[in-house]
Amino acid sequence: MPCVLVVGSGGREHAILDALARSPRQPDLLCAPGNAGTASLAENLPIAADDLDALVDVALARAVDLVVIGPEVPLAAGLADRLADAEIPVVGPTAAAARLESSKAFAKAFMARHGVPTAACRTFTRDAYDDARAYVDAHPLPVVLKADGLAAGKGVLIAGTRDGAHEGLQRLLRDSEFGEASAEVVIEAFIVGEEASVFALTDGTDYVLLAPAQDHKRIGEGDTGPTTGGMGAYAPAPLVTPVLMKQVEAEIIQPVLRGMAAEGHPYRGILYVGLMISSAGPKVVEFNVRFGDPETQVVLPLLESDLLDHFEALAEGRIASETVRLRDGAAACVILASAGYPGSYEKGKPINGLDEAAEHALVFHAGTKAHGEQVITNGGRVLGLTGLGADLQEALDHAYAAAAAIQFEGKTLRRDIGQKGLARLAAP
Ligand code: GLY
Repeated sequence: MPCVLVVGSGGREHAILDALARSPRQPDLLCAPGNAGTASLAENLPIAADDLDALVDVALARAVDLVVIGPEVPLAAGLADRLADAEIPVVGPTAAAARLESSKAFAKAFMARHGVPTAACRTFTRDAYDDARAYVDAHPLPVVLKADGLAAGKGVLIAGTRDGAHEGLQRLLRDSEFGEASAEVVIEAFIVGEEASVFALTDGTDYVLLAPAQDHKRIGEGDTGPTTGGMGAYAPAPLVTPVLMKQVEAEIIQPVLRGMAAEGHPYRGILYVGLMISSAGPKVVEFNVRFGDPETQVVLPLLESDLLDHFEALAEGRIASETVRLRDGAAACVILASAGYPGSYEKGKPINGLDEAAEHALVFHAGTKAHGEQVITNGGRVLGLTGLGADLQEALDHAYAAAAAIQFEGKTLRRDIGQKGLARLAAP
């Protein structure tokens, strides 16, 4: 029986474990550090996701056959490299390949080198602050300012006025709001369109695709308010038609894999392409070097084929032999967050209604923890409720029925998840 260690503690990792637990080969599952939900499928290990030494040690000590790295921080820090050195198969790119996410400046320059469609941009360092101001003054509004490094999804500012752009530059370059992550800033043109997330499992040469999804990044209905990690998702996203997906493969995924290999950093892992579908076609907003969260909570429940087989094939360089099978219908995930998220919020609120919610939908835990018999809140995004259905409306109905069954003080959710998808499906 293979033993798999999943690194991370969010809804994404719970959804990965849920898919692995469906494998007919019934793997032994470990999760580090996990949450109250992952504990029902895996043995939670009290090791932080960025404690590289302890993760490699435990993988060796427990004779782990495969490590799946959920979040970007350990990938950027080189966990996949460390595991490869210890000859432990891993799902996740090397630190050099993970620069597609950990350095926006690298990703943009890489796309320019390989003709991958993305917004025009320039990169500025701290000592070029005046040049950065002159650049935003000379370009049409809105402009997008991106901290170069990892900033937990918060390092992107969209400025609709010159003053706003100057203030953003001040915060990023002068005030170092994100520390070294904003030592460089990418300034790019704003692309008008609708966003979509595409996921490829790749061994560096070949790849297979999962269902395209759409995230809901803002806290407020109608895509208003501050940016979060994601307040809900659905898949498949009808925006990404089969024809469009072929275009994304030909213009983005294939050139990226060829380019990374040609530059000496073959990309092996999960490639998440964050897209803006503009009137001029698909353009890359960002790459992520891991599964999306909450997108994983809709993409993996639609997977009928064996994720364990796919992951092993990816790690062994034979993904071309895999066939992805998806179930018919749709999946929709509604996130329940703590009041105040994505700003400051309180933890430790008792969560009730979990069993009743599970009658309607899959219940993926994110910021939760067990406190004796009681599950309590322990983060900004608390739970993801994933409904499955014959179509998107049915999936949403199940997800919202589950959301209604859960109670905790300060429960916060968006009630318009999937509306763009429904409108598109209803369009003549
Ligand atoms: N849902 C966005 C992300 O995972 O980065």
